[in-house]
Amino acid sequence: MTFDFDTPVPRAGTDSQKWQKYAGRDVLPMWVADMDFKSPPAITAAIQARVAQGIYGYARPVKSTPDTVVAALEQRYGWKIEASWLVWLPGLVVGLNVAAQAFAAVGEEVLTLTPVYPPFMSAPKNSGRVPVTVPFSLEAGRWRINWDALECAVTPRTKLFFLCNPHNPIARVWRRDELERLAEFCLRHKLVLCSDEIHCDLILDPALRHIATATLSPEIAARTITFMAPSKTYNIPGLGTSLAIISDPALRAQYVRATAGIVAEVNTFGFTACEAAYRDCEDWRQALLAYLRGNRDYLLDFLVRELPAITVEAPMEATYLAWLNVTALGLKDPIAHFEKHGVGLSDGAFFGAPKGHYVRINLGCTRATLTEALRRMKTALA
Ligand SMILES: Cc1ncc(COP(=O)(O)O)c(C=O)c1O
Repeated sequence: MTFDFDTPVPRAGTDSQKWQKYAGRDVLPMWVADMDFKSPPAITAAIQARVAQGIYGYARPVKSTPDTVVAALEQRYGWKIEASWLVWLPGLVVGLNVAAQAFAAVGEEVLTLTPVYPPFMSAPKNSGRVPVTVPFSLEAGRWRINWDALECAVTPRTKLFFLCNPHNPIARVWRRDELERLAEFCLRHKLVLCSDEIHCDLILDPALRHIATATLSPEIAARTITFMAPSKTYNIPGLGTSLAIISDPALRAQYVRATAGIVAEVNTFGFTACEAAYRDCEDWRQALLAYLRGNRDYLLDFLVRELPAITVEAPMEATYLAWLNVTALGLKDPIAHFEKHGVGLSDGAFFGAPKGHYVRINLGCTRATLTEALRRMKTALA
């Protein structure tokens, strides 16, 4: 079966958060991480079949839904989990906030590596916990963890480590040796490791494999909360269906306790879509990856040829989000500048980068949209 990622699907005037931001303005939205593609036909068919029944009561997944997740994780990552380890969540931002409250007290610290998806820093803050950030360093065209700085950042108040694996926004797939060193670090300092693996099914470099952090060793599994979701890969974030996977019963109980009474249950369409995503959409996912690789290559080629002052400093190994260094443009507010010229990007400062130095562009769009966005960016700098 072939899939069409090129035909534009009009989203202006719909309930799309991405498109509403610039309603009434000629600005192409290349910011929040959802894609302008229709979800896989198998997901839409599953939801349509569910709608046909016409009853939308309180939902609880049927056995085949967790069984499908269990099978997918074993097949894709060699990770043998049990259905009882799954904690369903309406979103991973919720999941990060819950983790901060469950495992750190007010005033205690959550360590993370920047630049990073902004809720890694805002989630602790929301409940009076303290985010502590350690910047990556760029060495020989690769983002590296600054191990010395990481050791220096730990205090007796540090309780949690938030890892993004693969990493948004630097698009890095962590290697086994790096993950093992991080795991050793967390064990030595008795930190709970939250591994957000929402982008794990979006590896662009065919030579790389996602390593689920919890598969490294039984010791680290016992201290790890893994976050996963079908939302990014299959473009269903609006269905609010995500997962925490926690093998250790005590850790899981502590986590679930922190959700009690305040975290909404997952809705019926979310469960339906999740099962179809992990069971019936592998051919669609492979076609998507091929298309995204094409978008990434188009971007990189365009920058080198037409906009050499904007650079992607390290290989883009995963995700559909590219991290652009715009320092050389000398713009005080690159976001406002590009918006004025019809392109809506994400501000690197929100991810912990110095103001004016980085922007993030979302490549989850048709090639035609990407082409037009880059043409506008070139005009903006002419
Ligand atoms: C690393 C990471 N975690 C979590 C999320 C959001 O997850 P959710 O929509 O389930 O809250 C995103 C969205 O871009 C993300 O990049």
